[in-house]
Amino acid sequence: MDKVYIFDTTLRDGEQSPGATMNIDEKLEVAKQLARLRVDIIEAGFPIASPGDFEAVNLIAREVGTADGPVIAGLARASKKDIDRAWEAVRDAAKPRIHTFLATSDIHLKHKLRMTREQCVAQVKETVAYAKSLCDDVEFSPEDAGRSDPEFLYVVLEAAIKAGATTINIPDTVGYTTPWEFGALIEGIIANTPGAKDVIVSVHCHNDLGLATANTMAGLMAGARQAEVTVNGIGERAGNTSLEEVAMALYTRPQFFNLRTDIDTTQIMRSSRMVTAFTGMQVQPNKAIVGANAFAHEAGIHQDGVLKNPLTYEIMKPETVGLSSSELVLGKHSGRHAFSNRLQEMGYTDLSQEALNLAFQRFKKLADKKKVVSEADIEAIIADELYQPQEVWKLEHIQIVSGTGTKPTATVELTGPDDKTYTDADIGTGPVDAIYKAINRVVGVPNVLTEFAVNAVTEGIDAVGEVTIRVQPTNGESGNGKVNPQTGIARQRTFSGHGANTDILVASARAYMSALNKLLNYRSRQ
Ligand code: KIV
Ligand code: ZN
Repeated sequence: MDKVYIFDTTLRDGEQSPGATMNIDEKLEVAKQLARLRVDIIEAGFPIASPGDFEAVNLIAREVGTADGPVIAGLARASKKDIDRAWEAVRDAAKPRIHTFLATSDIHLKHKLRMTREQCVAQVKETVAYAKSLCDDVEFSPEDAGRSDPEFLYVVLEAAIKAGATTINIPDTVGYTTPWEFGALIEGIIANTPGAKDVIVSVHCHNDLGLATANTMAGLMAGARQAEVTVNGIGERAGNTSLEEVAMALYTRPQFFNLRTDIDTTQIMRSSRMVTAFTGMQVQPNKAIVGANAFAHEAGIHQDGVLKNPLTYEIMKPETVGLSSSELVLGKHSGRHAFSNRLQEMGYTDLSQEALNLAFQRFKKLADKKKVVSEADIEAIIADELYQPQEVWKLEHIQIVSGTGTKPTATVELTGPDDKTYTDADIGTGPVDAIYKAINRVVGVPNVLTEFAVNAVTEGIDAVGEVTIRVQPTNGESGNGKVNPQTGIARQRTFSGHGANTDILVASARAYMSALNKLLNYRSRQ
């Protein structure tokens, strides 16, 4: 079977979607997880967009771009300044890649770039050759290829290949095409572009019509051998093609596609949960592969069938995507050694001693409250305890009074950056509102809560609740200077936070502290 290269752009196109901003530590954790998932290429960011983006791409290049790790790519518009910045960011990786792009559709050429087709070809030649003079591995994308004249695409792509591009990526930037058209476009490119058979042809689809995965699969069937995808399908507008859908389609239907990937499918759920926790972007329950209901059989006839033989209604095993129902045979009397062994088996191989201690203390507390501690619980605890921003303010205690006939009231005790303890209280429309108002009285950062979601990590009344939220500062800190590469417009900055606890009010408070600390860290970096 031919191999399909998986190019993950969660940290670039995914992070570009409104509100999905991650901080540098979160980006590094996601990149490490993508390496465990065994993606072939990580597009780590758009280095010229902001100093923070540059720093994150460079850190990932140094820490994750090892010789046996993935290729690390940085995005650049087709300009020398962008390409220089991308190269500077990725050059420390063992396998660096420069990914440069220029729009080719008449709509973009006329209205956005105000450029003729001839000027477009000349710019591609010059900038791809320049990128090649710096880096052996160069990818070129004709933006809005889905709406470009195919005959013109053949000319542009030939120029890019002659100038040294080793991958030509075909984006359906606005998610406009259908699988039949997109498949035919790829077939046409391979047949009619001189040199196309000597390079990797890649596909990059957006989901505006809900066809991103279908278009990507059509592109692969037509001969493309790289798929550009994101975890949970996050990305601009309706998102990008989702990694898990492509990986599992190829895994589940090998006879049909006759293609394979190197993805370790058992890392899919963990990757999905991490991206949800860090971006605050919830996965819809009926989302293929990673949605909460993706493996749930509700109907009686289905349950009966699955009990008799899972093959009746299950085309994939939950374990294959890392959805383990396996319970930890660890209880409150288990020792640190057994716990650490279990974490190793789950893939947490690089936790420091301090991190392990923190996770172990949380596990002990949880084992006191819950009869059965599952792997999913442990993942939630680790995300809550270890994948948090540096604490400027620390939540010490909360106490909530709520119920019918009372005004929901919260009292909070926080430790501040000066190591002093502050206590305050407030009332709210509900207990969460009361907690957030009480915290606001102490921390004093004006903001609005734009999203709030609670999910149960496992089933049952004693389940751990995971809260993800997003806040937006309201003191004029709107644009963050980080530019969307396609529109050139700076985005509104939002900060996500996550928390997990068997008490969802405690989880809500932790999520809020997580978002506020991110905001304050961001300010002090500025
Ligand atoms: O959708 C798109 O066109 C892109 C390019 C930058 C590859 O994301
Ligand atoms: Zn895109």
